[in-house]
Amino acid sequence: MSSNISIKSFIHFNFLPPAMKVLYTLVLLVLGTGYIMAMAQIYTTHAGLDGKPGLSIEDIVIGYSGNKGATRLETALSGPMKGMLPDDERGAIVTWIHAGASNGEFDAKVKSIVDKRCLACHGGSNPHIPNLSGFDNVSKVVAKDTGMSIPTLIRVSHIHLFGLTFIFFITGSIFVHAYLRPVWFKCLVVGVPFIGILLDIASWYLTKIYQPFAWVVVVSGGFMGLSFAIQWLASVYQMWFYQLPVEIADKCGQLPSLGD
Ligand code: HEC
Repeated sequence: MSSNISIKSFIHFNFLPPAMKVLYTLVLLVLGTGYIMAMAQIYTTHAGLDGKPGLSIEDIVIGYSGNKGATRLETALSGPMKGMLPDDERGAIVTWIHAGASNGEFDAKVKSIVDKRCLACHGGSNPHIPNLSGFDNVSKVVAKDTGMSIPTLIRVSHIHLFGLTFIFFITGSIFVHAYLRPVWFKCLVVGVPFIGILLDIASWYLTKIYQPFAWVVVVSGGFMGLSFAIQWLASVYQMWFYQLPVEIADKCGQLPSLGD
């Protein structure tokens, strides 16, 4: 029956030329390193956005949809800048922010306080802290944080759509040479990342409308990572440390004697 090519046939790593295995291994090595860098990048851009250390679902929500809570000025006034002015003046500024932070009200009620209490340090001479002289400058620290803008999301989306598709096409094309059963599971490991990419990117936008979509970002990212890990480990292991049993090679339409 060794000449019988079944519909489940595939070419196992054992029967690939050594040069191809070297190529596959090095590609996987570099892509694996890239994946670690991508995770580090997610961590450095998102961790701590909610004011607490570490990466949380709240950080993802803030990253994409913005911080619906306090403005930067209000956060500073209830935090590090609290001691810079008496409570009644702080109250006046907070009331102004909540009332819409308009230009007219600023001149009437807020400008004198800011000029007196804040400009000594926030007059613009120190580039590392916000300049608070005049309405236009103060407006910048009371702007509502709406998260990543649509143009930014579009730019990041197209990079991810192309980039991730290439990556998973390459890893998937290598991984198809691994022996993994049941067949439906092998197909799932190859296919899941592509569904993951689409769900992940769609959820970046949807999180702006409905915050629980942040969970879809996390879960689809998790499934992509899991598929990547399975593909990577199964490929490298079976390429170098595994001998396909003869009876399986035979069943899959491969003759060990055809190897090398
Ligand atoms: C004695 C100097 C000093 C005075 C006076 C001062 N600040 Fe600051 N402020 C700083 C420094 C230094 C920082 C940056 C370090 C930090 O965030 O704690 C800062 C940071 C800030 C920030 C930015 C926080 C962020 O989001 O990074 C805001 C907003 C702010 N101050 C508002 C005010 C307001 C409003 C007043 C007046 C009521 C005021 N500050 C008075 C020194 C001062």
